[in-house]
Amino acid sequence: MYEQQSHYLLNSILDQLKPEIRKRDLRHFYTRLGANFYAIHNLFQQLYGQREDFQAQLLRLVSVMASQYIARDAALKSTDAAREQDHHWFLRQEWVGMALYLDGFAGDLAGLRGKLPYLQELGVNMVHIMPILECPPGASDGGYAVSNFRNINARAGSLEELESLGADLRRRQMLLTLDVVVNHTSDQHEWAQRARAGEKAFQDFYYAFDNRDIPDLFEETLPEIFPETAPGNFTFDEAMKKWVMTVFNRYQWDLNYSNPAVFIEMLDIILFWANKGADIVRLDAVAFLWKKIGTTSQNEREAHLILQLFKDCCQVTAPGVLFIAEAIVAPVEIIKYFGEDAVIAKECEIAYNATFMALLWDALATHNAKLLNQGISSLPDKLDRATWLNYARCHDDIGLGFDDTDIRAVGYEPVAHRRFLIDYYTGAYDDSPARGRPFGRNDKTGDARISGALASLAGLETALEQGDEAAVQRSIDKILLLHGLIMSFGGIPLIYYGDELGTLNNEDFINDADKAQDSRWLHRPHYDWARAEQRFQRGSVEQRIFDGLKQRIAVRKSIAALADYNNRELLDVGNPHLFVFTRTNPAVALESVLVVANFNDRPEQFNLRDLRNRGRFEVGDLHDKVSGARPARLNDQVVIPAFGLYWLMCS
Ligand code: GLC
Repeated sequence: MYEQQSHYLLNSILDQLKPEIRKRDLRHFYTRLGANFYAIHNLFQQLYGQREDFQAQLLRLVSVMASQYIARDAALKSTDAAREQDHHWFLRQEWVGMALYLDGFAGDLAGLRGKLPYLQELGVNMVHIMPILECPPGASDGGYAVSNFRNINARAGSLEELESLGADLRRRQMLLTLDVVVNHTSDQHEWAQRARAGEKAFQDFYYAFDNRDIPDLFEETLPEIFPETAPGNFTFDEAMKKWVMTVFNRYQWDLNYSNPAVFIEMLDIILFWANKGADIVRLDAVAFLWKKIGTTSQNEREAHLILQLFKDCCQVTAPGVLFIAEAIVAPVEIIKYFGEDAVIAKECEIAYNATFMALLWDALATHNAKLLNQGISSLPDKLDRATWLNYARCHDDIGLGFDDTDIRAVGYEPVAHRRFLIDYYTGAYDDSPARGRPFGRNDKTGDARISGALASLAGLETALEQGDEAAVQRSIDKILLLHGLIMSFGGIPLIYYGDELGTLNNEDFINDADKAQDSRWLHRPHYDWARAEQRFQRGSVEQRIFDGLKQRIAVRKSIAALADYNNRELLDVGNPHLFVFTRTNPAVALESVLVVANFNDRPEQFNLRDLRNRGRFEVGDLHDKVSGARPARLNDQVVIPAFGLYWLMCS
């Protein structure tokens, strides 16, 4: 019955489309719309069905999808068709990403084009350009406070340059990832300006209140995201004489998705960037999309409905485009951003694996993999056509978002354990070589997170300062260990720019008033390209790290078992320092990789006999795919060096 209503509605909407849309040949568009409309209607109804103008809004939604389809370039449409046919394309092991700030890496878009050979030399074929959409000068949260969603910053270049970069990337078989900041706008955005000027229609784009009544109710349960620099979740706007919801910084106004006009605008913007050549759109801060009094306003059911609706609409207009969910939330919540059902409730194909990232840093500090093993084995299974973005470091702070139950299960007390980790990485713990800084310290809750370049957190800065070659080698081993794991865990590894050269903390931000309060700038480097040349100098730190990564990337690409088909099995080998799992090629069951990581600062061993029973790993001919060497053995025990990582295979 309901499908019939939906068919009827679709037909009447198609009749009402403007003549310039109706007269076009939109065969593929209509096929996809027909296939997805039941879901689109259903979701739109759940979100906005109570409104009198529901049908008019639905008509607008379909018109936006059709107009952007018409605007979509023929080359992109043929990529769409190819990807529909090969719909598992992004699960293959061939993809390796890098996230970079354009100004710090290459200055601008023209500069980036010149650096594509560098990325290809390393093996990177997916480039995430951190936000370049127009934002006001001065503080803009690293570009995450957008003042114009349809243009880029002049200092980055022009839209034409972005399109030609996209075409160049496609020729090189590289993917382009761009950010769309869906949760909020800058207070300088035209919508905010018009809201300020008193236009009710634009005040309705935000959460704006005349007095503190509702804000106070919200505050009872809303946490603070940036407690040091932006306490509270509302800001009084003098011009408007209203309290505006600003969950992040005071100049980032939260969008109100209970208004369908907001949803439709943001969909139009996502499709606009898809049409500018983005293969992947990173949707920022998606956990925050729906606000509800009496809750933390994170991970609400409606936030998921919004993402499902974005996905279904994008499947109609630009089906080759993928979404990344940036949801840095509890482990059991993150996985929900893939959607809960591959057919009717799909959301983002890719999600940041924040759980794995934080657990890796735990293992590095504790020298054991107890919590890492526990945390990963508690992760629920993800959907089939979904994959992780595995990273060791990114532009944000490291939050210790593990599950308290898991922390207790391995014998630690959650508060004390987190405090130890913060102390370990921020220099308050004597026996640690790490050089990080605290971020987002909250005196009310005792929480804190960690800033700092990956290499500095892994002890390289301290080791170089002390001129201690053994310590330098140890930190290089740690850096390669973390990267080797993100490359073999299952998913797309995302390298953070600079980490491939062992870039250290950058203290320059202290001198910039717009950045000084935000320690995340410590790890947002400006490249010294002369230093990058050191990668050709045998034995230099840069060469050892760069070549180590380059080699692991090349080997990853050659092993089909490292593609992500939910083909990982965690193994308990009875040694708490080791993190061990197998990856199996679903097409060739005997083609398995045994990944073994040792987080201790001395060699560790495990007994191969247990694994032999699985019939896959014969003791005799096991060798490490990265070095080509056979691991040292003591009878049936395989020995893994300190901070070592093996990708073991037979033959
Ligand atoms: C995301 C970004 C982060 C930013 C926040 C608010 O989490 O990664 O850098 O501060 O959103 O936009």
